[in-house]
Amino acid sequence: MRKMLTALCGAATLAIAGFAADAAAKEFKIGLIVPANHAWTLAANAMGEEIKQKTGGKHTVVAFPAGQLGSEAQMLQQLQTGALDMAFLTVAEVSNRAPDFGALYAPYLVKDIAGADKILHGPTAKSMLDQLPRKAGVIGVGYGIASMRVLLTAFPVDGVKDLEGKKLRITPFEPIKDFFTILKAAPTPMPLPDVFDALANGQVDGVDADMELIWKLKLHERGKMVLQSNHMMFPMVGVASGRVWQGLDAKDKEIIQTAMGTALQSLFKDYAEVERDMLEKVKGSGIPVRAVGPEFFGDALKEYETIWLKKAPALEQLRAEAAKL
Ligand code: BEZ
Repeated sequence: MRKMLTALCGAATLAIAGFAADAAAKEFKIGLIVPANHAWTLAANAMGEEIKQKTGGKHTVVAFPAGQLGSEAQMLQQLQTGALDMAFLTVAEVSNRAPDFGALYAPYLVKDIAGADKILHGPTAKSMLDQLPRKAGVIGVGYGIASMRVLLTAFPVDGVKDLEGKKLRITPFEPIKDFFTILKAAPTPMPLPDVFDALANGQVDGVDADMELIWKLKLHERGKMVLQSNHMMFPMVGVASGRVWQGLDAKDKEIIQTAMGTALQSLFKDYAEVERDMLEKVKGSGIPVRAVGPEFFGDALKEYETIWLKKAPALEQLRAEAAKL
């Protein structure tokens, strides 16, 4: 009898241990606003592969691109409750909670992706990530990047005055809104998934985007020209839910941090090439592409700086770091 009880207890212990092991196995969800074929989604998939491999298949990652889980604001809420495990978010959304992040969008803070890589791994940008657990309930694992910003317009542009009064789609985000307000355009905030239709039905006259989006969302089919202004960098932040994070052991945290860090870093390297490739494709479609620099925007840049030095004092440190690049 005693032997039988011992055997039964052993089996129960094993069953509980087995259950615990299964319960610890996770299928992490990562949300993204960009399309499935976008470089961010590909990086998220690569991260998932690494996590699966490093955990011997215990943990897997499923990506939900194209805003399938809702807007970035909704995703941030899901991250806070633990309903969503991870996300690659535009810094736009994060900065609604931590305004210092807005400084990263200062026009011509950097001139290209290589500059973005340096500034986003510098002391000021890195210290901003430390604000995220307290202000947004997420762990800021690191920065990624998209291409430099350009403008696609459905009207001809000779000078900056041609933008006046024009409805230009922008990412819903204060620094970008301020920039186009200073230019006397009519900034029209709109999430990415709605942009093609809005351009097609004339709801907007142009789009603030990048070469990759112009090509992958086929915006060039609806535009008259592309102003290759490279006026802002477009950082992304890779985050994990603070709640989910608390429930992970140190080893899993380390694996996730490393895999996400590698995926984010790969974007800086890849984008230099993606940008070139997309530029060629967009040009090949026949739409005129005109390269312009800061001088195109004239005094608007000074005006922007005055406003944003007050709104996000971190801009001063970022400019100082950028000057040394
Ligand atoms: C945008 O809103 O323009 C955007 C969003 C995600 C990645 C790149 C661009």
